[in-house]
Amino acid sequence: MSDELRAAVQNVRPSVRQDLEALIRIPSVSADPNAKAEVRQSADLTATLLRNAGATGVEIIDDIDGSQPAVVGHYPAPDGAPTALLYAHHDVQPPGDAGQWASPPFEPTERNGRLYARGSSDDKAGIAVHLAALRAFDGAPPVGVTVFVEGEEEIGSPKLGDLLAKHRDKLVSDVIVLADSDNIEIGTPSITTSLRGIAACIVEVRVLEHGVHSGQYGGAAPDALTALARLLATLHDEDGEVAVAGLVTAPSSGFDYPEDRFRAEAALLDGVQLLGRGSIAERIWTKPTASVLAIDATPVDNASNTLIPSARAKVSLRLAPGDDSIRARAALAKHLQEHAPWGVHVTVTDSDVGNPYAIDASGPAFDAARVAYAQAYGQDVVEIGSGGTIPFIAQFADAFPHAAILVVSAGADPDCRAHGTDESLHLAEFERACVAEAFLLAELGTGRYK
Ligand code: BES
Ligand code: MN
Ligand code: MN
Repeated sequence: MSDELRAAVQNVRPSVRQDLEALIRIPSVSADPNAKAEVRQSADLTATLLRNAGATGVEIIDDIDGSQPAVVGHYPAPDGAPTALLYAHHDVQPPGDAGQWASPPFEPTERNGRLYARGSSDDKAGIAVHLAALRAFDGAPPVGVTVFVEGEEEIGSPKLGDLLAKHRDKLVSDVIVLADSDNIEIGTPSITTSLRGIAACIVEVRVLEHGVHSGQYGGAAPDALTALARLLATLHDEDGEVAVAGLVTAPSSGFDYPEDRFRAEAALLDGVQLLGRGSIAERIWTKPTASVLAIDATPVDNASNTLIPSARAKVSLRLAPGDDSIRARAALAKHLQEHAPWGVHVTVTDSDVGNPYAIDASGPAFDAARVAYAQAYGQDVVEIGSGGTIPFIAQFADAFPHAAILVVSAGADPDCRAHGTDESLHLAEFERACVAEAFLLAELGTGRYK
């Protein structure tokens, strides 16, 4: 592959950086009902950028009831060439407490080779990587390209099934490239071949009709928070393995993920033990897990000496490839109903679901990717799993069973802190990801991969 193509990607770097920053400045938080205008604005900007990058038939898909706007654009395939679908999402997670950030969450700020902001790595970098590759070809890539940028990934893609049914014809492709995962470490091009699913519930326990004096009644009457704590404690066994019956464990990848590295990347405090059994890769990629994400109860500063009448928590399972998220969510709800202590009243409400997915990375598109990514990074490609979820993948695979699914990084690395405070993008890694995607389109366009 040509040095010219690498140079072409370098030439478009300033414009791509500018577009990435403009996208980041729009706080497109799909989970925030008050941010509809911003999500719309980020779809509009994505559409404009695609048009400027030479795409045709650019449109915002917003005709599905209750969905967030998605963007699609096309580059027709040269005769006999395959078509690649380039995927990213333009919505982001909420920033949390903006005061905790070292710089404002929606103001892209460069420090030490990283660009800090919400969405910098997850996943506005994904949009920018696609723009970089397309611009490097001056809007005339050697394969057909469809760009699809989703607007509701971070809320579990609730309307994606309807969108795929209604707009299927616009998304037909031979290979899909999702720039929405991580590299296992800086400088190592990684293809993600397994992703976990997700299934969440909100559980509420009710104990008393109203709060009562904790001295007068405590000792015989329970409080809701203690009951909830006991219930949540049944989610794991003594070793920290998830104790919800009937969840799938997938075959181990055998990947060697050293414990010290995991401890450092996960930012675990000294002496804190790991949960579960098996290798690190098994625990985070191929086994289910349960986490308690949030609790509503009396805040400590408002505490009075009262037995609290009710409390609720959000419980989230991650599911191994092969599991079914609707079934797993029902298993979780059943577990929560059946393990309530002391006869307390339990109400379980369904929350997010997304199916896991495992990919067989064999065939021509994966061969092309291994060549292109190795050449761009100057390092062999590794296959990794991910503990995260991209609900789009299982749904897309259902709709297009013959398409190869290539899940890569747009520059995200283990320290990018996606979803957290001080999310950032490693700029040199982003640059390599841009070159790699351009090389991939070139490689697919050689006609060697039929
Ligand atoms: N890009 C992530 C998924 C991901 C994270 C893949 C790390 C590979 C490595 C995606 O944006 C995400 O966060 N998905 C959500 C899905 C949920 C809202 C249904 C997730 O995993 O929490
Ligand atoms: Mn993402
Ligand atoms: Mn995310």
